[in-house]
Amino acid sequence: MTTFAACSPISLLGSFSSISRVSSPIRLNSHFHNSHCKFQIKCSYADANVNVDYGSSTIDVVADVKTERVVVLGGNGFVGSAICKAAVSKGIEVISLNRSGRPTYPGSWVDQVTWISGDVFYANWDEVLVGATAVVSTLGGVGSEEQMLRINGEANITAVNAAKNFGIPKFILISVHDYNLPSFLLSAAYFTGKRKAESEVLSKYPNSGVVLRPGFIYGRRRVDGFEIPLDLIGVPLERILRATENINKVFSSLPASDLLFAPPVSVDDVALAVINAVTDDDFFGIFTIEQIKEAAQKVKVLN
Ligand SMILES: NC(=O)c1ccc[n+]([C@@H]2O[C@H](COP(=O)([O-])OP(=O)(O)OC[C@H]3O[C@@H](n4cnc5c(N)ncnc54)[C@H](OP(=O)(O)O)[C@@H]3O)[C@@H](O)[C@H]2O)c1
Repeated sequence: MTTFAACSPISLLGSFSSISRVSSPIRLNSHFHNSHCKFQIKCSYADANVNVDYGSSTIDVVADVKTERVVVLGGNGFVGSAICKAAVSKGIEVISLNRSGRPTYPGSWVDQVTWISGDVFYANWDEVLVGATAVVSTLGGVGSEEQMLRINGEANITAVNAAKNFGIPKFILISVHDYNLPSFLLSAAYFTGKRKAESEVLSKYPNSGVVLRPGFIYGRRRVDGFEIPLDLIGVPLERILRATENINKVFSSLPASDLLFAPPVSVDDVALAVINAVTDDDFFGIFTIEQIKEAAQKVKVLN
């Protein structure tokens, strides 16, 4: 095992009273594991059943500590900013690419993100992707047919290919639930663009690509300096739909029934599901609304 990496040595003081021998390296159980660091721990230790103090000595502890560097495409948008904020709070290095660059509102997490102004179609990827361990795309939106195909489809396909060519190991796409829509509605440009982007992620990243398919996302959305409290609708709606889950299932086979019954998800849960995707290499493939919530819960439990 390689034990040295470019990270600063950390000296910990600890007292392991129940460790009988420290002859082999101890793997610190870290949530963020990738590059290896060697920690020096000064400790005193004694056999669990024997009251003997073997004195103090320094031991080496080999720890896997992942130094994540995540590029968020659209980091100043509604979902993107929640992802940046959550990632920063987990000690993950964050770079955002979006046309308008740094948001105008203040925030300590805002100061900790590296904001790059640029259009995904003309990006200087050398500047954006260098050293990245994952790319998260929140690119998407509504508009004319042409605009929707471009931003939901082409923009993401461009980003996936840039990331793949650059050797970035993981790509996470914020897509959308299909609302159980009939096929003629799913052929609308918004969904067509999303599904093309999904195919690109899953074909270029078959063993690490992540596609999250949320329905309505609620939280505090900033528009032109104002906050729209979508949670005033989302929170009660989520509760009602959870309480009536069994009844709603009766209608689930009806076309487009999910327009009424698909549970909303909070923007913070989407962000935490992304954190789970970034940090858990076994988490890949397509994830439904419920699975997004479960992934978020996993991260909450770890805190
Ligand atoms: N909001 C929902 O309820 C919901 C539900 C399901 C799925 N989704 C999906 O979730 C994703 C995020 O949604 P959102 O509501 O957070 O959208 P949003 O607030 O409009 O954010 C979009 C982000 O993309 C950036 N962007 C747009 N065009 C770009 C380009 N050409 N190059 C670089 N950056 C560009 C925007 O910044 P600039 O304008 O500064 O470039 C912005 O940061 C979308 O894919 C959406 O379809 C949203």
